[in-house]
Amino acid sequence: MTKAAKKANSETVQWTKKHLLGIEGLTRAEIELILDTAPHFIEVSERSSRIKKVPLLQGRLVVNWFHEPSTRTRTSFELAAKRLTADTLNMVSGGDSSEVKGETLHDTLANIEAMHSDIVVIRHSQAGAPHILAQRHRSHIINAGDGRHEHPTQALLDAYTIRDHIREHRNDPEATLDGVKVVLVGDIEHSRVARSNILCLNKLGAQVTLCGPKTLMPMGVERMGATVTHNLHDAIADTDIIYSLRMQLERQQAGLFPSLGEYIRLFRIDERSLAHVPGHIPVLHPGPINRDIELASTIADGPRSLVLKQVTNGVAIRMAVMHLLANSGTE
Ligand code: NCD
Repeated sequence: MTKAAKKANSETVQWTKKHLLGIEGLTRAEIELILDTAPHFIEVSERSSRIKKVPLLQGRLVVNWFHEPSTRTRTSFELAAKRLTADTLNMVSGGDSSEVKGETLHDTLANIEAMHSDIVVIRHSQAGAPHILAQRHRSHIINAGDGRHEHPTQALLDAYTIRDHIREHRNDPEATLDGVKVVLVGDIEHSRVARSNILCLNKLGAQVTLCGPKTLMPMGVERMGATVTHNLHDAIADTDIIYSLRMQLERQQAGLFPSLGEYIRLFRIDERSLAHVPGHIPVLHPGPINRDIELASTIADGPRSLVLKQVTNGVAIRMAVMHLLANSGTE
């Protein structure tokens, strides 16, 4: 397909999905529709002397329902909803909620819906929790991370950030991710970010390489359409993008790699491992960073880092997702 044909395709695609449960169910055209809707919302957030809001979700109720710790994703969704002029509600889970009294997810959501929620953003440690809720309930469900399974808005904001970088670097405002080489480094096994990114980048035509210790590499992950290597030097010798993943210490059992010292020596993204990588090759990380474990502070805070760009773009991507779900007649 030519660039012009692709553009026409993404402009004519209509949003038809009621929920955003994963990248798995999305087509390339749908992903590109989300990415192409975001710049308008970036402009809204960048207004300095005017109101940083648009009334696209005025009077609607967005409920943030997080069952796992989160700073970036929860605040990003809350801010995105507020910038769309929605009402927002942050639900507690665990110790302070009725879940400790044995209330099921379905019961809790039925009660939230009795207060007329429109969009429910859920993070849960059980893979598939958002999908189960979406089958039974009326609200638009957005998966903000389910166990080790998927984290679709993270992959979308990453794809947006990578595409933006490529467009700027090539001085081509219509450049796509076709043929762009991306290396994901670190704890692939426990990472929903890695899974959603592999799916998303593949659908957008990028070439994905996974690099990490054997013990943190899921069996058969090549079948998802990625190349696997255990040698960081080889992996990043000729890449366009480096994506460092957080070591998911809370999801690991002991003994998955010999020692943190060993991991750092072989896989850390730092001045030493990047010594021969051209200066324009950027480094991304979803946050929170285990500083100086998977990523050296000098790199995280240095000129290659797109980490804070990812955070900025995340708000616009979440605004785009909520707008498309709630305003496309998919009730
Ligand atoms: C990710 C998550 O929670 O899956 N963080 C995030 O959403 N920004 C990545 C991680 O915790 O490693």
